[in-house]
Amino acid sequence: MTPLREVLPWLRCPVCRQGFSLSGSSLICPSRHTYDIARQGYVNLLGRPAPVNADTADMVAARDRFLSSGHYRPITDDVAAALPEAHRLVEVGAGTGHHLAGVLKQLPKAHGLAVDVSVPASRRAARAHPRMASVVADTWDSLPLADASVDAVLCIFAPRNLAEFARVLSGRGTLVVVLPHSDHLSELRHSHGLLEVGEAKLEKLKHAAHGHFDIVSTATIAHDIELTEPQATDLVAMGPNAFHNSTASIPATQTHVSVACITMAPTSQVTGYAPGNGHR
Ligand SMILES: C[S@@+](CC[C@H](N)C(=O)[O-])C[C@H]1O[C@@H](n2cnc3c(N)ncnc32)[C@H](O)[C@@H]1O
Ligand SMILES: [Zn+2]
Repeated sequence: MTPLREVLPWLRCPVCRQGFSLSGSSLICPSRHTYDIARQGYVNLLGRPAPVNADTADMVAARDRFLSSGHYRPITDDVAAALPEAHRLVEVGAGTGHHLAGVLKQLPKAHGLAVDVSVPASRRAARAHPRMASVVADTWDSLPLADASVDAVLCIFAPRNLAEFARVLSGRGTLVVVLPHSDHLSELRHSHGLLEVGEAKLEKLKHAAHGHFDIVSTATIAHDIELTEPQATDLVAMGPNAFHNSTASIPATQTHVSVACITMAPTSQVTGYAPGNGHR
């Protein structure tokens, strides 16, 4: 419960937007809206069943195994390098909490909150790091966070609601977005008929950021990785293809990692939450 105690001042009741206090093994707001802290340590603030695109338990397990291989370590390191001053970090669409945990390891005074719409992911994130709390919530709702409550928002391969990210970030805060270039995992995509990465994701993000964020830097992380058969199979099983294909075993192969890591600062003119300006 300790990590939850640390992030409690950031959290807001999703029903009435008031703050929470801890009452036994629940969070309770002044209007007595009550959310139980699960045995595994996360809190479900969603208030309804998870949508169909939430990662499943099998996807979360595959992601957990794949990330432990270290193949995406350069992504964690680049995100951490963008956040040397942050103390209050939230990762939205955090999955297993792997990247946030890696960043927290490099920031010994920081605390983190993993937000994901998937219950199995949130359950896993709740034990990813001793300074990380975990809640279930939907990026497309108003996030259960106070205005200007965090120094950093991380969004790594996950849906982006830029208006909400701007609202919860302090004026001097940082948003770090990681998204795939069109050649990300291209060999694996071509040889196994996987879903293509949409073209011009970076351009769309820059366009959507207008009025909310100024781009501070854009870096490309590109390297080749050698995948064993279980790693290749997990890499496919942890992604959107798991919703579309059967996940038969995939032979050992080499593939190319190619992602953009974009650091942004809130635009000074941003004054508050503008509903409906999210970017999928
Ligand atoms: C591709 S995974 C990335 C997970 C993690 N950031 C990582 O890089 O390992 C995308 C994550 O976003 C979550 N997600 C999808 N839609 C979401 C939404 N509307 N709100 C919050 N999380 C969402 C999924 O459940 C999944 O865990
Ligand atoms: Zn309430």
